[in-house]
Amino acid sequence: MNLPALDGNIALTVISESILTTKKVRLRPLQESDLAQFQRWLADDELRRWLGSVNEQPSVAEEFDWYVSRRQDPDSILWSIESADGTLLGNVELRLSALNRRAEVAIGIFDREQWGKGYGSEAMRLVLDYAFGELKLNRVELATDEENTRAIRSYEKCGFVREGLLREHRLIDGRPVDSVAMAVIRSDWEGR
Ligand SMILES: CC(C)(COP(=O)(O)OP(=O)(O)OC[C@H]1O[C@@H](n2cnc3c(N)ncnc32)[C@H](O)[C@@H]1OP(=O)(O)O)[C@@H](O)C(=O)NCCC(=O)NCCS
Repeated sequence: MNLPALDGNIALTVISESILTTKKVRLRPLQESDLAQFQRWLADDELRRWLGSVNEQPSVAEEFDWYVSRRQDPDSILWSIESADGTLLGNVELRLSALNRRAEVAIGIFDREQWGKGYGSEAMRLVLDYAFGELKLNRVELATDEENTRAIRSYEKCGFVREGLLREHRLIDGRPVDSVAMAVIRSDWEGR
């Protein structure tokens, strides 16, 4: 199969400016001014447990270091997710492997009051359309806890296919937890 050419530099120049919108959500480049709210939300044990990226609430300084590291990483594309009225909800990141025309996606609606209202799926669909449409990627993948049924349902609604079980992939409070590997490949997206 012939895939369209992907020039990582051009793609990144475009995406760093990209604002993606539907009637329900708006994705815009993550700004330093978002960090204080993210840091406060990360006091939520359940949020951190599902995100799987931080064990404890980060300090303001740690949150800032994370932001700087992402900005300096040419393979990271990071948006804040807002509702249509501009209320901050969370963020979503693509981590590119340009060589393989692949990206890993990580998403979080950080405000738990907003879980299950369709924001995550809508944001993910925008990211997938951007990844396959603008960036010409061939595959977008993720792994999530098998126990994270809300996330799995959301990803399935967006066209992610379960590819396998990563046994004892994470340790949560010392307890081994399986993860589900999921992905959308280009032909899935084209046939949606
Ligand atoms: C995962 C996440 C991004 C999904 O976004 P969301 O806006 O909450 O999801 P949506 O409302 O678009 O879709 C959720 C679906 O799961 C269903 N659902 C809600 N709670 C559920 C539960 N406990 N078990 C199973 N399904 C559930 C909803 O009904 C909806 O399906 P439907 O549209 O068929 O009714 C968001 O919940 C989140 O950020 N959670 C905390 C962090 C996290 O888990 N991040 C992902 C790590 S891989």
